[in-house]
Amino acid sequence: MEKRVDSHNLSPATEEKDLSKEIELLSSQLRKATNWDGSELCQYQGFWCRSEFLHGIIPFQRHFQAQDSDLILITFPKSGTTWLKAITFTIVNRPRYALENSPLLTTSPHVLVPFLEFDLFMRNQPPSPISEDLPTPRIFSTPTPYASLPNSVVNSNCRIVYMCRNPLDQFISHWKFLIQIHQDQSKELVSFDEAFETVCNGVQGFGPIWEHVLGYWKASKEQPHKILFLKYEDLKENINFQVKRMADFLGCPFTENEKSKGIVEEISKFCSFDNMKNLEVNKTGILPSGAKYSDFYRKGQVGDWKNYLTPSMSKRLEKVYEEKFSGSGLTFKTS
Ligand code: PPS
Repeated sequence: MEKRVDSHNLSPATEEKDLSKEIELLSSQLRKATNWDGSELCQYQGFWCRSEFLHGIIPFQRHFQAQDSDLILITFPKSGTTWLKAITFTIVNRPRYALENSPLLTTSPHVLVPFLEFDLFMRNQPPSPISEDLPTPRIFSTPTPYASLPNSVVNSNCRIVYMCRNPLDQFISHWKFLIQIHQDQSKELVSFDEAFETVCNGVQGFGPIWEHVLGYWKASKEQPHKILFLKYEDLKENINFQVKRMADFLGCPFTENEKSKGIVEEISKFCSFDNMKNLEVNKTGILPSGAKYSDFYRKGQVGDWKNYLTPSMSKRLEKVYEEKFSGSGLTFKTS
């Protein structure tokens, strides 16, 4: 097992009321960069994140107590989080909800499966921002890199489903998402070329992407019973196979009866991009953050990067991540 980074550099005896001040102090000592939207990024425990997110990440690291039955969905941003949340919620809760009564018909996957840092520990007071009466298994999500996960996530028997996506499509998806959000708020972004440059240098939220992906790739090889490693492109290629694989891993395999009734195909279709995007709720809903539900459904394709990156740009980014992944056995389909 690799050596884990300490949860943070703060004194364990610190009173909660001082935590915010200590985070500010820690933040002031970290390396900084500017995000595409002008906000401040800092390099914390080796990964980049918006400085304000430390107020969610550090309390999460310090206070989150994973239970053995928990399911933790982990993604690099813009790698299929919304899809993964919808599928996992639907698989796990199929004894409680038939598809025609699914809560996904009336709310976002991001509401049903909250982010630990942003939705729970940043918006609510630690140490207990998590309701006692959540149904079991609890399903949470996080973009935190493997080396920075709280010890209870690593050391308990909770299960992790990790999903990543080829870095070319991930970059375009993120760029288009920010354009959409900032159009809504009439804010300026850096140029496309500048954004691309930062990604090639590994400076992006929760990046570098190659370190994030490799961290979970290696951990999943060491602990395949604990970490299921998925790629967006593989789900696009054969969703029914991956849905069955997920149900097996999550400890709720489909019965022969369910399979013969076509439940696997029904879940795949229900959670598909076209179905989700066209649900009324996903056309009109708004998250507490102000993001529209519809912002999370753009094209849902593999290879859309070809419409935005020049051949020299795509070659450059491919070269960067292929070098980083070399020897790991990890590859991505890009079309
Ligand atoms: S976020 O903000 O990090 O939670 O975004 P995330 O959900 O990870 O990524 C958004 C991209 O995922 C696409 N998407 C889907 N693809 C396939 N099937 C389903 N059901 C689905 N739902 C969302 C979404 O369109 C974004 O990709 P792009 O390439 O931008 O279309």
